[in-house]
Amino acid sequence: MYRVPLFDLNYDGQEEQAVLETLRSKWISTGPRTAAFEAEFAAMLGAGHALALANCTAALHLAMRILDIGPGDEVICPSLTFVATVNAIRYVGAVPVFADIVDESNPNIDPDDIRRMVNERTKAVIVMHYAGFPCDMGAVKEIAGEHGLKIVEDACHGPLSEYGGKKLGTLGDVGCFSFFSNKNLSTAEGGMLVTDDAALHERAKLLRSHGMTTLSFERSKGHSTSYDVLEPGYNYRMDDLRASLGLVQLKKLREDLEKRSVVREWYEKALADIDQVLVPFRGHGEFASNYIFPVVLTEVRRKHRDDVRNSLHEAGVQTSMHYPPVHLFSFYREYSRELPVTERVAGKLITLPMYSSLGKSEVEFVATALGNAFG
Ligand SMILES: Cc1ncc(COP(=O)(O)O)c(C=O)c1O
Repeated sequence: MYRVPLFDLNYDGQEEQAVLETLRSKWISTGPRTAAFEAEFAAMLGAGHALALANCTAALHLAMRILDIGPGDEVICPSLTFVATVNAIRYVGAVPVFADIVDESNPNIDPDDIRRMVNERTKAVIVMHYAGFPCDMGAVKEIAGEHGLKIVEDACHGPLSEYGGKKLGTLGDVGCFSFFSNKNLSTAEGGMLVTDDAALHERAKLLRSHGMTTLSFERSKGHSTSYDVLEPGYNYRMDDLRASLGLVQLKKLREDLEKRSVVREWYEKALADIDQVLVPFRGHGEFASNYIFPVVLTEVRRKHRDDVRNSLHEAGVQTSMHYPPVHLFSFYREYSRELPVTERVAGKLITLPMYSSLGKSEVEFVATALGNAFG
């Protein structure tokens, strides 16, 4: 047991009650609660459509499918992301082309490097908003516009985060969210695909459930008795047990994120005097989800980062590292290219504890433990 864990679930009796009610309703698979969760999620983001899914990996896969990305196509993506972002490109036989990140203070994809990697085979760009702080979507949209590229946002880290007053996930063609246990909004496993395009939503809905024209829930309501299959789809459905968790978590989201903003302020203050660490996105003006709290070490000694993490571990502080760069994994070596900034920053990143119930004294304890780690 850590004195300060990396994450704590924002669950209470309301989630238990919601699941109980769903169990007692006897409709536990995709049904009315899933539909309500989709409607509330779309309204919250100001998105045209939302489709609830088994997880975000399914959302990313469906994003590739509905944008008709396939063998021979290239998709530009970051390497400093969770591997699911990139795996989705390979699911459809397309080629991931890695772009570097900006720098230590902005570990998001670098639009200048996207521009360098565009060619006639490029079909789309997947951006990932690191820690819930937006990529430079103005520049990404400009490049996409010039070259006719689709934009997919991996917005797993950023529910309710904003860019230019718009919610992340609604800035490109398709937005993808995860509700995995440690996310800002948790349903244990779960995901959402959002889009303003009715045709893309229809196609994703079809593919979510085997390519079938109706769901069993719709048939049970007597709207139709049979179905057709238009293409071989998947079973990527969310169930109503998870959707009922999602509906409760949605109500808590804004307050949860506002508390995280305060936690971030405490951290920024407590770390201000530690010269050996830099806080990415410091001074960011717009509302952000603060899914994680990353810091970058300013020194680059070999094994230094792991020594610091060990020292925090010994003090009772759980840490993580987001992320080992994807282009260095065995499978992705063949798609690898020189990404000097990604490699430099990834070697110096540490993720400190972040959750809405984290107290000021705990933040100060983490900061002191971090300061002590430098001797
Ligand atoms: C950036 C990013 N992309 C994709 C995923 C995959 O989401 P899921 O676990 O819901 O499939 C995650 C989280 O797990 C993530 O953090």
